[in-house]
This record gives sequence, structure tokens and C-alpha cells, in this order.
Amino acid sequence: MTPGGITRRQLLVATGAATLLSQLPMGLALGRDAGKVPAFIDTLIGKMTLQEKAGQLTLFSSASQNGAAAAANPVTFTGAVSVQIAAAIAGQLTGVFNSSNVLWHERLQKAAMQSRLKIPMIFAADVIHGFTTVFPVPLGESASFEPELARRTARAAAMEAASVGIDWTFAPMVDIARDARWGRGVEGSGEDVLLGRRMAAARVQGFQGERGLADPEAVAACPKHFCAYGAAEGGLDYNTTDVSERVLRQTYFPPFQAGFEAGALTTMAAFNEISGIPATANKWLLDDVLRGQWDFRGVVVSDYTGDEELIAHGFARDGRDAARLAILAGVDMSMQSGLYLKHLPDLVESGEVPLAVVDASVRRVLQLKAQLGLFDDPFRRIRPSAPSRQRLPETLALAREAARKSVVLLKNDNQVLPLRAGGQRIALIGPLAQDWDSTKGPWTLFGGDDSSSDLASGLKQAMADPTQLSVVAGCGYQGPLPGGIEDAVNAANAADVVIMAIGESRDHSGEARSRTSITVPQPQLDLLDAVAATGKPVVVVLGNGRALALGELLPKAQAVLVGWYLGSASGLGLADVLFGAYGPSARLPVSFPRESGQVPYYYDHKITGRPDPHPEKLSAFKTRYMTTPNAALFPFGFGLTYGRIEYGGLDIGDGRLTVEGTLAIRATVHNRGTRAAEEVVQLYIHDRAASITRPVQELKDFRKVALAPGASTQVHFTLRRADLLFIGQDLKPTVEPGTFDLWVAPSAEVDGLHATFELLA
Ligand code: NOJ
Repeated sequence: MTPGGITRRQLLVATGAATLLSQLPMGLALGRDAGKVPAFIDTLIGKMTLQEKAGQLTLFSSASQNGAAAAANPVTFTGAVSVQIAAAIAGQLTGVFNSSNVLWHERLQKAAMQSRLKIPMIFAADVIHGFTTVFPVPLGESASFEPELARRTARAAAMEAASVGIDWTFAPMVDIARDARWGRGVEGSGEDVLLGRRMAAARVQGFQGERGLADPEAVAACPKHFCAYGAAEGGLDYNTTDVSERVLRQTYFPPFQAGFEAGALTTMAAFNEISGIPATANKWLLDDVLRGQWDFRGVVVSDYTGDEELIAHGFARDGRDAARLAILAGVDMSMQSGLYLKHLPDLVESGEVPLAVVDASVRRVLQLKAQLGLFDDPFRRIRPSAPSRQRLPETLALAREAARKSVVLLKNDNQVLPLRAGGQRIALIGPLAQDWDSTKGPWTLFGGDDSSSDLASGLKQAMADPTQLSVVAGCGYQGPLPGGIEDAVNAANAADVVIMAIGESRDHSGEARSRTSITVPQPQLDLLDAVAATGKPVVVVLGNGRALALGELLPKAQAVLVGWYLGSASGLGLADVLFGAYGPSARLPVSFPRESGQVPYYYDHKITGRPDPHPEKLSAFKTRYMTTPNAALFPFGFGLTYGRIEYGGLDIGDGRLTVEGTLAIRATVHNRGTRAAEEVVQLYIHDRAASITRPVQELKDFRKVALAPGASTQVHFTLRRADLLFIGQDLKPTVEPGTFDLWVAPSAEVDGLHATFELLA
């Protein structure tokens, strides 16, 4: 129903278009059936002017935006409210993005309903890790190794966002990120392809829900940025990538494919060039691979001014050329530059862009709108008077669950953790102690207005006697504070145990936040030195949006927790882990190298012709740095528990995998400790000899198991031939018989349980 009580059907009857509507599968879950274009869409396209078509391919940043949303992108021209209303009436706008204002959405949609063809607007937004309830940053949440958790948080975010009229999220970010200098690794799932695929699929399923895209609580997902954005040279945002087709197919494509297989109907072209051709004008990427080989029928949107940036890349001569190159390459919708609106009509009239190309893009955009149910009811997600769906108690409870499940324990000497919630004095020291703003992470545009999410508040709520907590900043993120060290040392001396909340502020990671060094900034290390010198036990709780090099920090702390940016329940989730209400169960989704100079470092690197046989001692003429082995300080998959985990009893049957068969793998995991634990049991393989060199290890599966004190459980994995595929010399997936190593292990780079098996011809 429209706000005026008129249904979309009545509106179309009034405009003589009822026959069109009869073709539309009302309420049908089209999200799973991207192939069928309702017939009314072509009839509609037949009535559109070129200008209206260009309008359907033009997305602008919303004229009504909060400060955080406005700051998320460079300032460019965005029309005022009245301009966007006029554009909606003129049919020159497909939609807007990054507004959370339901009344504005209603106003704009009403304007679109006054347009000649009454094509509904689409409302998009960067709903990355929560909406008004903020969940852990995606990298942190990926540390849970629990795709189902990612599905549930995406579902909750979609429910909140859809209830203010948002139809489409620019998420999940599925870029594999292997260079910790790159700030945007925080938005994704880390360095591993398997974890990336599972998280991508889970998040798409969560955003889109199970009842089809037309469901009022579904939002369309947009796996981004297609493609290889994470391969930016030097970890520098927006920088050149030069990636072979094999690496694209083996490493960077799979999470996108997983997202599309899970039902995503949109993707965003990346800012970067790939081997000389910008993704936004890359016909091979968008047309041959995405649409041709993968049969993707959905919408490709440019990134913010991505088409216009073809000029700066030196790929397009001017705006007109940029629009031409982008649409011909397969970019359906232009975000923010306005170039399509300005140039497409003329490019078609001059014959430089075939009308059929524009019509195909318009068809895809209109089909997406139909799939979202917008032709049926343009106001289906715009319900200003409906009861609030924001920050419901169950959503906040989920935020706490997600927060505590994202915390990784790296070190716990003498079992200093968990702390007792009563009977000891705690000094909480560091710039992150009371920084609730940083708990939101760098990509929160709509929520996190919750000052009680910081660590100090979380600890106080959990402590029997909150007066036993003293809180001192000690220094800023990047510089000392007057008297800061002295205050911190005094607080430490007066306490039984110190929690140091240090690391990166939210501004250290995210878009355009690449760092040359991935350490905790020196003023904070100086503070840690001074506090550690008191001799009090020190527990470091890191705030971070990337892997950090912790070599200098580690000896100063008895315990270290990786706390990322955990969102609305950050302090509570951390307190749960610190006091043992919940045992740490997360694992690193990115390798933590020993030193910044090792990056890009990732566990599934190649072996080289001169592997280093003894990483801990210097060997000449081997693949290592002069002072540092080519190994992680904390590898991918690493994380401790409060239990004492042992692995044993590996059984792989006869160790032979036939073409059609399966290899059943069993191992037993014991908790010999006195506290409950959750272990992430990981299966790695290595192909000993192949026609393309293979990584030193590759993750093939993982299971999270809960173990009571003293308990044991048998974990089962199954390997199939398809799990051993790689991209062969002919750039096609292939598998070759031979000998494989296999490990069932608590992380990469440790031996765990080892066996070999044969893949038979
Ligand atoms: C630029 C970012 O690269 C992209 O991820 C985001 O969705 C757009 N800005 C819109 O805010």
C-alpha cells in the first residue's frame, strides 16, 4: 500500500498499466530466480525516454544524511533535498544511498510515484556490521570461525535497516586481504579463501533472509569490491593491483562466487585497476567472467565516482569517455558521478553505445526493484508508524554474544586470566579504556550512540564492587598526555592486576587508512613499559582493525587479548571473557607477523625453491629475512582457550582417495583442563608435487567444538576430490593424483596431527 492507501496495482490501473502488473509474480520470492525478467519490465522499458533510462542507472548519495554518513566518502556534488525530489519526479534518479531517515525515504518515494512511469526508488546504504545495533567489525566477527553467527548478525542488521526503508546494503565486503597495512581489511574476513567463502555466503544469506527478497525485512546484498581490491600494492588504499588470472581465480574470485551462489544479485566494481585495466572498465572481468562464465544476472554498481576516476587512472579521456567505457564494460549503475545521466543519452544517439546495452542495464536494475517487491509496494520497507525494530533486547543480546565470540586469546602466562570479578583491585589503563567511539569501528554510519559500550563500563557492570576499578588513560593514541605515565604507574601500583587497553583507534583502519607500520603506536608502548616495570601482572586488551606486529609488546604482558572493535556490547563482551563468564573461543582470521616488514604475510604462501628448514635459527641462502624468519608470530587460526586442549587419535582409514570416493578423517580432541573450552579444529592439506606450485598449507575445513573440563570429542572431516582442485596451467580447475600431506591442527603453521594420503588417478 502507498501511504495514501492506494496499492501499486491501483496506481498502475490508473495509468493504464494493469496488464503489466499481471505479469509480476506478486510476493513471489524472485531472489532465488534471477533468470526470469517479468514481462512488464520490457513494456516499461519500451516507454522510457533515454533520459529516464539514464536516470534508472544513476544513484546519488542522499541529500539527507547524518554526519557519519556524509564523512564516509569524499565531498562531491550532491543535490539538495529539493533537487533530489525534483529528480525523482522527473524520473532521473534510480535511488539514493546512506540515509537512515524513514520520513525522507517516504517523501522521496512519494515523489517517484508522481513521476511519469512511477518507477519506485531504491534506497541503499553501507550497512556493514550492524545498523543501530553495532556488531563486531567483520574481521573481528570472522575470528569467531562461526559463519552462522555472521548470518545471524547480518539478519539482525537487515531487520533494523529495512525497517527505515533501506532495500539494499553495500555489503558484505568479501575482499581477501593479505597485507595488513591496508586499512580496509577490517571490513572483510581476512586472508583465507575458505573462511572468506563461508563468511561471504553466510552474510549474504543473513542480509537477504530466507523468505525471498520481497520480504519487507530482506535487504539485497552486494558482495564488493569486484575485484582484487585487497591486492593493492604496498597495502596502499586505491593502489594498483597486478594479479595473474590464476591468482584471481584461485584467491580473489571464490568469496564472490560464494556470495552469488548464496543469492546475491548485485556487486560493486572495485576502484583499483587490475594489471592495467581498471575494474570499473574491465570488460573481461564484468562481462566475460561475471556474466559470461558465472551467469550472473544481477546489477553491477560502480563504487563512489569509480567511473569518473577512470580519467585519473589515465584510462578515459574525459567524463563522456568514462561513461562510455564503464557501461560498455558492464557497469549498470553509476554511483555519485552523475556521468551516466549526463552522457548516456548522447552516447546512444551518437551510436557509441548501443541502445541494447543501456536497455540491458535498465532491465537488470528494474528487475532488482521487482525482486525487492518495490513495484508491488514501493513503501513496503517504509513504515514510519510501525513499532521500532531498532536495538531490540534480543538484538543487543546478539551483539554481546558476537562480541565475546570475536575475542582472541593470544597469551595467558600463569593463567592470569580469567580474572576474579571480586576481591581484587584492577587498574584499567590506556587510550581505549573509555573510548566508546572506537568500539564502533571505522564503518559505523548509523549506530553506536551508546557510551556504555566501552571497556570501563563493561568491567564495572561485571565487577562485584565497581569501586575496585581505577581508570586512567595514560596517553593518547599517538602521543603522551601530561602526567599520563605517572598517573598510570600510580594506578598500577595501587592495583593487584592491570588491564592495558591499547592499540589502534577506529581511525587507524578503514577506507584510506593504510599504515606503513602495523605496530601499536610508540607512546602506548612507552606507557606499557612504565606500567610493566611496576611488576604488576599486565593483561593487554588490544583494539585493532588489522593484524598487528606484537614482537615488542609481547614480553611486557602476561596475557594478551585481541579485541578488534566489538560494537554495541564491546565492554560487556570483553568483560565476559576477562572474568571467565565466557571462555575465549575465537581464532585469528589473519596471521600476525613478527614485524611490519614481513607484510604481505599470509599462512598459505608458496614454499619457494629454498625453504627455511629451521625458522628459529639463521640459515644462509634460505627464504627468510636476516633477522626474522618467514613465519608468523601468531599464525592464522591461532587462539588459546581457558582449557588445556590436546589432539590425538588421527585416523584416515587406508589413506587413499579415489575419483568418486571420500576420505574420512577422524581425530580426537581432549580438554585436559579444569575449565570449559571451545576449540576450532582445523584441517589443512598440502599437495606435494603439482603442475602448478601449491601453497605450504591450505585450510580445507574447520569445526568448532565445545568441551567441558575433562571431556573429549571425536571430530570428523570428509575430503573429496573436488576439495583438492586448483587452477591449472590452462587456467581451468584441475586436480592431479599424487601424495598429499594432511594436518588436523589448532592453527596453521603448527604440526598438530599429521598424515599423508594418496589421491588415486
Ligand atoms: C566507497 C567504498 O569503497 C564503498 O565500499 C562504499 O560502499 C561506497 N563508498 C559508498 O559509501
